[in-house]
Amino acid sequence: MDPAENLTIRQPDDWHLHLRDGDVLSAVLPYTSAHFARAIIMPNLVPPVRTSADAEAYRSRIEEQIPGHHDFTPLMTLYLTESTDIEDLKAGAESGLVKAVKLYPAGATTNSDSGVRDIDKVMPVLEAMAAIDLPLLCHGEVTDPSVDIFDREAVFIERVLEPLRKRLPELRIVLEHVTTRDGVDYVQSASSKQAATITTHHLMIDRNHIFKGGIRPDYFCLPIAKRSDHKTALRKAATSGNPKFFLGTDSAPHPSRDKYTSCGCAGVFNAANTLSCLAQLFEEEDALGHLEAFTSLNGPAFYGVPYNENRIRLRKTEVPVTYPAEIQVGEDVIKTFDPETDLFWEVVKDDTN
Ligand code: NCD
Ligand code: ZN
Repeated sequence: MDPAENLTIRQPDDWHLHLRDGDVLSAVLPYTSAHFARAIIMPNLVPPVRTSADAEAYRSRIEEQIPGHHDFTPLMTLYLTESTDIEDLKAGAESGLVKAVKLYPAGATTNSDSGVRDIDKVMPVLEAMAAIDLPLLCHGEVTDPSVDIFDREAVFIERVLEPLRKRLPELRIVLEHVTTRDGVDYVQSASSKQAATITTHHLMIDRNHIFKGGIRPDYFCLPIAKRSDHKTALRKAATSGNPKFFLGTDSAPHPSRDKYTSCGCAGVFNAANTLSCLAQLFEEEDALGHLEAFTSLNGPAFYGVPYNENRIRLRKTEVPVTYPAEIQVGEDVIKTFDPETDLFWEVVKDDTN
């Protein structure tokens, strides 16, 4: 086979994933565990995953649903609140259970009501995290209603992130799902303690997709997709090989009935076709050689965990790859991210593992 048509890489990890709970968890998890070795699991359940005991119980519920032939490790996070208990967090981190803490500015996104209103109130927790080198994962948007939705990331950097970095330069911080050139430039010029995840869909769509021919709730997510020149900056960062940028799919399933309403939920479910999308766009950017860095090397290096030893093979196909356009959960359906283009890369599990 022509090596240009095949690419073998270390097994990827997903550094930002929503798995939910119950029936949705069991329906969506196999799409991630089929391809990914590990994933950082977002804690925005209702109620959120706030304590080490919550995280341990949630991890068990996830582990119960991993198909027997998949080898997958959920990496747990805690949801930062103004009453997070430092001793509990330290114990969770020291035992290896808790891998990071998630900062949601209160009201920023789906299930973020218990998030942080006043960063001063969580400074002691952040100081304790810096001391034990536990990363802070930021949903990087301000919630001030006077700030335009398209500016909320840039304003978060100015009002929250940079002041926090100055106060606690030793804290490891990930700007999650970066969506703007401002975010890319900021992370690029920051210290090695700062990194960013980039989602699959923000590399493929811009804000016009949300309004093409009518309103398209399937493309509504937070942070909202920005202008196309921001997407260009994200693609450049992701495909550059720069160790500060790594994959966090932000696969965030919602039943269509919760999206197609007068106040629809934000989130895109992309676990089922993420690697096909990524291989295709790295090929388009003439950067297939950097795909492994983005999906499988930069994340582990930042989190200080070993690379995966298993490999996966991506194979160029002549006919478009197939994936479910939607998945059924009870009476509900969850739509898969539609990249509005055929995909010609499929994942083949390497039998030499
Ligand atoms: C996420 C969700 O649905 O939980 N939605 C989204 O649009 N990304 C929450 C989040 O990560 O903001
Ligand atoms: Zn998310």
